[in-house]
Amino acid sequence: MEEGNEPTVISRPTQSRVFPQRLLQLLSRPTQSRVFPQRLLHLLVPFLLLCIAFSFISLYMIRYFRVQATVPTVQTSFLPCVEVEEPNQLDLEYWIRPPSNLIHNMTDVELLWRASFVPRIKEYPFARVPKIAFLFLTKGPLPLAPLWEKFFKGHEGLYSIYVHTLPSFQFDFPSSSVFYRRQIPSQLTEWGRMSMCDAERRLLANALLDISNERFVLLSESCIPVYNFSIVYRYITESKHSFMGVFDDPGPFGRGRYNDNMAPEVNITEWRKGSQWFEINRKLALYITEDTTFYPKFSEFCRPACYVDEHYFPTMLTIKAGDLLANRSITYVDWSRGGAHPATFGKADITEAFYKRLHEGHSCVYNNRNSSVCFLFARKFAPSALEPLLLGAPKYFGY
Ligand SMILES: *[C@@H]1O[C@H](CO)[C@@H](O)[C@H](O)[C@H]1NC(C)=O
Ligand SMILES: *[C@@H]1O[C@H](CO)[C@@H](O)[C@H](O)[C@H]1NC(C)=O
Ligand SMILES: *[C@@H]1O[C@H](CO)[C@@H](O)[C@H](O)[C@H]1NC(C)=O
Ligand SMILES: *[C@@H]1O[C@H](CO)[C@@H](O)[C@H](O)[C@H]1NC(C)=O
Ligand SMILES: *[C@@H]1O[C@H](CO)[C@@H](O)[C@H](O)[C@H]1NC(C)=O
Repeated sequence: MEEGNEPTVISRPTQSRVFPQRLLQLLSRPTQSRVFPQRLLHLLVPFLLLCIAFSFISLYMIRYFRVQATVPTVQTSFLPCVEVEEPNQLDLEYWIRPPSNLIHNMTDVELLWRASFVPRIKEYPFARVPKIAFLFLTKGPLPLAPLWEKFFKGHEGLYSIYVHTLPSFQFDFPSSSVFYRRQIPSQLTEWGRMSMCDAERRLLANALLDISNERFVLLSESCIPVYNFSIVYRYITESKHSFMGVFDDPGPFGRGRYNDNMAPEVNITEWRKGSQWFEINRKLALYITEDTTFYPKFSEFCRPACYVDEHYFPTMLTIKAGDLLANRSITYVDWSRGGAHPATFGKADITEAFYKRLHEGHSCVYNNRNSSVCFLFARKFAPSALEPLLLGAPKYFGY
């Protein structure tokens, strides 16, 4: 046999089972054993390599494309060395393992229903490592992605990522990226409208499908992390409270937006205002996804100039579980320049003084104690800020 012919032989499934047999026969022939070992090695090594390569490729295919049902014969004849595991819906493993594919065809109603499944026994019968779900609400591209890649690097298993974009937008992140295949089925959203809250509920519901996700952080494409992952993870997972900036604003932009038709579900004394960029635990995420009591009220009676994304979750969660809220946000934003929108930081703004402002001079309450670490994330950053931030990150952010 010519050595150059091997690949064609191997690539024919029907012959691959015969091939090792013949090799064995050749090996066992005593008279030729001195001549053949060299050539056999030449044959065996590429064959084994191919076999291993195919094992990995098909394992990968099974995970991501679930092709096992369509090409079972090819697999079995190719891979005598690999056991293909069929996920059994009755195995515990099936419920613990995160969904390998975020694409599904559930409607919002179906998704919210599915996401509202809750175990009634509070203790998990397996070693559950709580993960933080990072929920990115964005129109399209993530210009600051390289910074996030650095932040997440080396912390696999402690986080998961979900991205809501415009429905027509398609990421082109390489498979090595933490954002690869992390887009969820998305729909059009408008600022200040219920469709914005719908998108946030969609993000939460998709993230709830992974039973290991314990904390949920909402971020935009202009947000950055200002501490390294270890600090962020500990700060969030060890907090007794969830971080949502919530307050009772007696003025026209607070209680002034309350509509009497919201009673009796929402009383004006319970009406709250807050910032959109929250961090909540699994319990609160479930309150939001399962809600059918407050949703119709806000949907009908909080329309511009009542900006529903500033009121719905803060009010609803204050009523359902106010004691679990820290009533402050962990996302830094600079309102010092005045106006209706916070300052956007560009390239020229990223200075030594800027890093100081992010980390110093803050005080807040963390687990009932005073703390000077109050902000883990910051916004808003223009794409031009990426370059100086990447340079400053190791020194100032620790990643
Ligand atoms: C969703 O996809 C499955 C196949 O994956 C199909 O059987 C089902 O009809 C689809 N449902 C809807 C609502 O499109
Ligand atoms: C994160 O930052 C803290 C403080 O700057 C440092 O002590 C720690 O080693 C860093 N962790 C990692 C994984 O870099
Ligand atoms: C709102 O609640 C407060 C106390 O919780 C109560 O005193 C007040 O009567 C309520 N108002 C309405 C309109 O229900
Ligand atoms: C946040 O506000 C709610 C009422 O609005 C209160 O019950 C709760 O204790 C506050 N949280 C903290 C940490 O003070
Ligand atoms: C926390 O800070 C406040 C002032 O910001 C102070 O009144 C209070 O005593 C401090 N508490 C502790 C436990 O240090």
